[in-house]
Amino acid sequence: MRENPLAYGLGLPREPPALSVVIFGASGDLTRRKLVPALFSLFLKGRIGRFRVIGFARRDWTTEAFRALVRAALDGEEFSRVDRALKDAFAAHAEFVRSDFDDPSGYAALRDGFAEPPNRLFYLATPPDACARIVERLREAGLADQSRGFARIVVEKPFGRDLDSARALNAHVAAAFAEEQVFRIDHYLGKETVQNIMLLRFGNGIFEPVWNNRYVDHVQITMAETLGAEGRGGYYESAGALRDMVQNHMLQLLCLVAMEPPVDLRPESVRAEKLKVLRSLVVIGAREVGTETVRGQYTRGTADGAEVPGYRQEPGVNPASTVETYTALRVHLASWRWAGVPFLLRTGKRLSRRATEISLHFRRPPVRLFADGAAPPPDTLVFRIQPREGIMLGFNAKVPGPTTDMRTVAMDFSYGSAFGDELPDAYERLLLDAMVGDATLFMRRDEIEASWEFVTGVLEGWRVSGALTLETYRAGTQGPAAAERLLGDGDRQWRRL
Ligand code: BG6
Repeated sequence: MRENPLAYGLGLPREPPALSVVIFGASGDLTRRKLVPALFSLFLKGRIGRFRVIGFARRDWTTEAFRALVRAALDGEEFSRVDRALKDAFAAHAEFVRSDFDDPSGYAALRDGFAEPPNRLFYLATPPDACARIVERLREAGLADQSRGFARIVVEKPFGRDLDSARALNAHVAAAFAEEQVFRIDHYLGKETVQNIMLLRFGNGIFEPVWNNRYVDHVQITMAETLGAEGRGGYYESAGALRDMVQNHMLQLLCLVAMEPPVDLRPESVRAEKLKVLRSLVVIGAREVGTETVRGQYTRGTADGAEVPGYRQEPGVNPASTVETYTALRVHLASWRWAGVPFLLRTGKRLSRRATEISLHFRRPPVRLFADGAAPPPDTLVFRIQPREGIMLGFNAKVPGPTTDMRTVAMDFSYGSAFGDELPDAYERLLLDAMVGDATLFMRRDEIEASWEFVTGVLEGWRVSGALTLETYRAGTQGPAAAERLLGDGDRQWRRL
């Protein structure tokens, strides 16, 4: 008999066994901003009961100092109404191991001093160059062994910086951990609105029949931020928008919009469908970058009403930097469902508004019956991933009165009014999934490599066609005007930010 597929994957409340969560890089920003609040939230909801949070870092700290950091991380607005006693009770689960990432004795201390509970989730919130070394030390210390309990590893982005480095890192990880033990995180997959893409498509009957090149003219995926380099100039200089956002978050969103229905929600079923999308991406290389991509960098302007410097003036940034803070791409998929449908991707820092959304723009009706034969605006289905999370269907309606004039109106679902509750943070969901061993919302080795293969083609194209212009755009605007050329000859328009 077939197992109930719903036992896997999206949505069901599940309780992990007693476990230790070991955070490498525990003194860093991610631990304070995301991991501790997410673990506390799981604790408050009763999803985790028997656990230890073990910080592992070079910092000269004691367990007491780490507990103080944990308590301080819970002082924000989000938990302002939670009893202090609960925060203290949570912080009492925290312990600290002071060690260099290269020092075998730190790993021995972890193994022998914290043998219980035997299930261990290692979270690598570390700079990317530390990953290979930590994995190796874990293996040497016998900490990847699963004979007493599980040993799983969560690896943060950036997972490599091109195809070769991603392959090398995957090989390192695979030398210590089996693929089922590895959880490559992309926090976008933990966002409720992102999970809802699959639910909308495959949990309803009316959308899927029009979800193809017969009815869809083009798809836009936008990830616009008002933030700038935010003190991460050093990292950003080695990344740029394509590596920072497209290789991971944007291609994952593209996969969820474009994939075929999986046969069930097992991790392997879902990830196999996503992989097919990545493999169907039409190569953009040196010959295509000039027409299919745009790169831009912000100059001085405004952000949320305040004057802000240009990218080249940000701390840690080379004053002559040619790193892109904006990129737009026209991507095609060589698949029966999507052949001929452009996917227009754009992402940038310091744009006029923060908005992550996906929109499907439908073909017009074949005959123009109304509004004196004028072309009606195309119908659109918009996923607002953030902010004002929701889904909107824009279509044309008759303006009341004696004419057949039409106007675009909206059917609008918003999470806030439909469900009330605050949406859980992505990390909360993903940590819980890793604790119960559900890898559906994590990236498999071959997925990472397929997305890097595509992105490395673009990077290589940019490198060899050094002539590709770096456009500039003022901070606080819609981005470089050159992105218009990706729209093609028709009357397509980027959605206004
Ligand atoms: C990160 C990028 O992965 O995602 C950042 O490194 C970016 O540059 C961030 O700001 C955006 O995530 P979110 O959840 O704030 O949209």
